Amino acid sequence: MITTTGLSKVYRSRGREVTALDGVDLHVREGEVYGVIGRSGAGKSSLIRCVNLLERPTAGTVTVAGQDLTALAGRGPRASKELRQARSRIGMVFQHFNLLSTRTVQDNVELPLEILGLSGKERSAKALGLLDLVGLADKARSYPAQLSGGQKQRVGIARALAGDPKVLLSDEATSALDPETTRSVLQLLRDLNRQLGLTVLLITHEMDVVKSVCDSAALMDDGRIVESGTVGELLATPGSRLAAALFPVGGEATDDDRTVVDVTFHGEAATQPVVSRLSRTYNIDISILGAAVDTVGGLQIGRMRIELPGRYEDNVVPIGFLREQGLQIDVVDTANTPVLLKEGAK
Ligand SMILES: Nc1ncnc2c1ncn2[C@@H]1O[C@H](COP(=O)(O)OP(=O)(O)O)[C@@H](O)[C@H]1O
Ligand SMILES: [Mg+2]
Repeated sequence: MITTTGLSKVYRSRGREVTALDGVDLHVREGEVYGVIGRSGAGKSSLIRCVNLLERPTAGTVTVAGQDLTALAGRGPRASKELRQARSRIGMVFQHFNLLSTRTVQDNVELPLEILGLSGKERSAKALGLLDLVGLADKARSYPAQLSGGQKQRVGIARALAGDPKVLLSDEATSALDPETTRSVLQLLRDLNRQLGLTVLLITHEMDVVKSVCDSAALMDDGRIVESGTVGELLATPGSRLAAALFPVGGEATDDDRTVVDVTFHGEAATQPVVSRLSRTYNIDISILGAAVDTVGGLQIGRMRIELPGRYEDNVVPIGFLREQGLQIDVVDTANTPVLLKEGAK
């Protein structure tokens, strides 16, 4: 549904060049919720603004629903009719809602419909239907200032849906909201994704968001996508930074002379017997430093952090044994465990 190839964006301001995107290849499938995560300044907003051509890429192509948007001419108010039409098929939700304070809720939702040239009656029917869909049928005549943050974002979502988009882009839509409101807005996005078959590309700096709603995710760093895949693929990738952040298990090595290993199991796989067999086979004491079971991207997954006596070189054989059992093994260098993404958004 969304493909970018070799997407680059270089900003030039006051004689300085900033490379915000550096050859991004993104593939978002129809009907999925795709999360892009990364620290502040990684290029997430630039990516989303290039996807709907609010920002003209410096190089590369953007294809949405089979249409090459980069081939369509014009920018800003001089954008071609084709580009404006294509863009109306892409809904956009913003962190700070971007509602017009002098217009009622209903009139805010009607705004894009005016631009599309619908009659007053059609606009009204459509806007009220959308407000009903986002659970705000009773707020049509209110003004934005009379709404809570979560309600404002629901209006923003209703407005984004006005052009019957196939794709919804969301840039930090929940960053200004408290955790409970965040959950309900994410649930709404998930429901819309399911009910309408809407493809959602969402940008966030919060791992919890990816965990609760995304089918796939990408990690951006310094204008590049450094990891991407379905949540299941990421969790099954040894050494994945995204997987470690999606599903952390605590526990530090008790001594320098120890090897710490994360054992990941999917579904029903039984780790406990494997660990005790390992202990018996090699006659070694194994300590469990931490363990967790969770649902990530709809998948049941468990992870246990264990400690083996001796350094890594001494444990090549036992680690090989664990791998032979079909378990995913990540040898953890606890001193260098990636601390991901804890910074706030810009
Ligand atoms: N309009 C702009 N002009 C100049 N530099 C910009 C502009 N927008 C973003 N940047 C720079 O591009 C880089 C990526 O920014 P951005 O895409 O906003 O990242 P993110 O959304 O991940 O925080 C940053 O270094 C930022 O300062
Ligand atoms: Mg941003």
